[in-house]
Amino acid sequence: MIRRSPGELYESIREFFVAVDDQGRVIGCAALHVFWEDLAELKCLAVAENTQGQGVGRKLVEACWASAAELEIKTVFTLTYVADFFERCGFHQIDKAELPHKIWNECVRCPLFPNCTEIALIRSVETVPAANGLLASALV
Ligand SMILES: CC(C)(COP(=O)(O)OP(=O)(O)OC[C@H]1O[C@@H](n2cnc3c(N)ncnc32)[C@H](O)[C@@H]1OP(=O)(O)O)[C@@H](O)C(=O)NCCC(=O)NCCS
Repeated sequence: MIRRSPGELYESIREFFVAVDDQGRVIGCAALHVFWEDLAELKCLAVAENTQGQGVGRKLVEACWASAAELEIKTVFTLTYVADFFERCGFHQIDKAELPHKIWNECVRCPLFPNCTEIALIRSVETVPAANGLLASALV
């Protein structure tokens, strides 16, 4: 994940969802960044190590997806090393070259740039699994 200054976090705070435990402690976060009328990125997804494997990550993904649905954005992409997790959340892999150039602006700040091995995945209204039919129908 790309390191972000407190200033950057405040500037983008409206993009973030956080998961909190029953004592109000933050145990996970994810952000939805809008790129265009029909495209947004799910980014900054992380769950505290001691609460992983309990469905928190999936809920954060669903919160971002629902937010995209509210905005009538039909495709959400992500760049990740945990493709399997996103596939379990309704995403499928695509060739990174299919994504618009604009999305790479932030990558130059990554220590791995330009030798990035992240995998690109998208989730589109058209490919939403049946279990998420409510969200899908909210969009169409
Ligand atoms: C990846 C991460 C967000 C997953 O969060 P989580 O709360 O542990 O995941 P969930 O419990 O919601 O898991 C949902 C499903 O994905 C599967 N899953 C979880 N982590 C997985 C992984 N690393 N690889 C493959 N599958 C995974 C779960 O088994 C579960 O499967 P199910 O469909 O059988 O229920 C979390 O492990 C994490 O924060 N990792 C470190 C940061 C990171 O890699 N973030 C990704 C940013 S690109």
